[in-house]
Amino acid sequence: MFGFWKTWKALEARGIMGINRRNADYVLKYNKRSLYPIVDDKIITKERAIAAGIHVPELYGVISTEKEIDNLHDIIGGRNDFVIKPAQGAGGDGIIVVADRFEGRYRTVSGKIISHEEIEHHISSILTGLYSLGGHRDRALIEYRVTPDQIFKSISYEGVPDIRIIVLMGYPVMAMLRLPTRQSGGKANLHQGAIGVGVDLATGLTLRGTWLNNIITKHPDTTNAVDGVQLPYWDGFMKLASGCYELCGLGYIGVDMVLDQEKGPLILELNARPGLNIQIANDCGLTLRTHAVEARIEELKARGVVETVQERVEFVQEMFGHIPAVEG
Ligand SMILES: Nc1ncnc2c1ncn2[C@@H]1O[C@H](COP(=O)(O)OP(=O)(O)O)[C@@H](O)[C@H]1O
Ligand SMILES: [Mg+2]
Repeated sequence: MFGFWKTWKALEARGIMGINRRNADYVLKYNKRSLYPIVDDKIITKERAIAAGIHVPELYGVISTEKEIDNLHDIIGGRNDFVIKPAQGAGGDGIIVVADRFEGRYRTVSGKIISHEEIEHHISSILTGLYSLGGHRDRALIEYRVTPDQIFKSISYEGVPDIRIIVLMGYPVMAMLRLPTRQSGGKANLHQGAIGVGVDLATGLTLRGTWLNNIITKHPDTTNAVDGVQLPYWDGFMKLASGCYELCGLGYIGVDMVLDQEKGPLILELNARPGLNIQIANDCGLTLRTHAVEARIEELKARGVVETVQERVEFVQEMFGHIPAVEG
């Protein structure tokens, strides 16, 4: 705990963003209330993304009422793997990742064997709002299970790592790779016990890692180094994240993406109140970067210019990249 405080204090001097500033100066200022459902409901996010031609894990079906739970067999069909999640869930809660079938039952990604009835019961809990923000009634969605790209094999334990990029008015400001651990049960959510690793915006090279608020260099399960890893399709991820501003209209978001072995980069979800731990993983405060972007927007506004996705990505890579991108 002490180590964590020391880190936090040192970061404060370097423009760290606290929760009050995030809420007042970014979430409330840039995110219009009426647009929240687009990001707070994963089914609506998916519909929007598809309409915009952005790739997402395929939706197999939606269950909205107790009666529709009878449709589960048909929705799963002959598939051996799939994911069930609450449309309005958060923090990885209520998500079941089924990896295989086993003697008339299912095997989850962390090896737990569950019956069809147990899944039905779980869906019923989702509908009552057990996992939704504010405990409101919710819907369950059944979707394609992402198989992570081979690149992550040595630095990830089960499950799917995800790439989080914080985007201000279409400008990516900070990125982090989140790696599942034995503790996180195949999910990439930090408070479930996943590792957060900073990423250089210019190159897609990983920086240092943080685990349960400590700074680490190796994955606790695989013992491989988490820094210095080159993420593939990096500019593609940057552009995908940047374009999510046009997709949802919210000015301050966390974009969560995954790299599927077959389908390539996919958008998993968008967050209207992205967490602040990304600053520790990057050893850098967010406000230093958000202020630079806000100044840029002001300057462009005065000139009557609006930048494209490509221009926005180039601007932040030049501004915030640790290692300048090599020419050519
Ligand atoms: N379709 C999927 N296939 C495999 N793993 C998934 C899938 N969807 C989610 N996960 C895992 O669960 C984590 C949380 O999922 P996400 O959709 O971001 O929900 P939440 O809002 O709860 O964070 C992801 O980071 C990933 O590790
Ligand atoms: Mg998430």
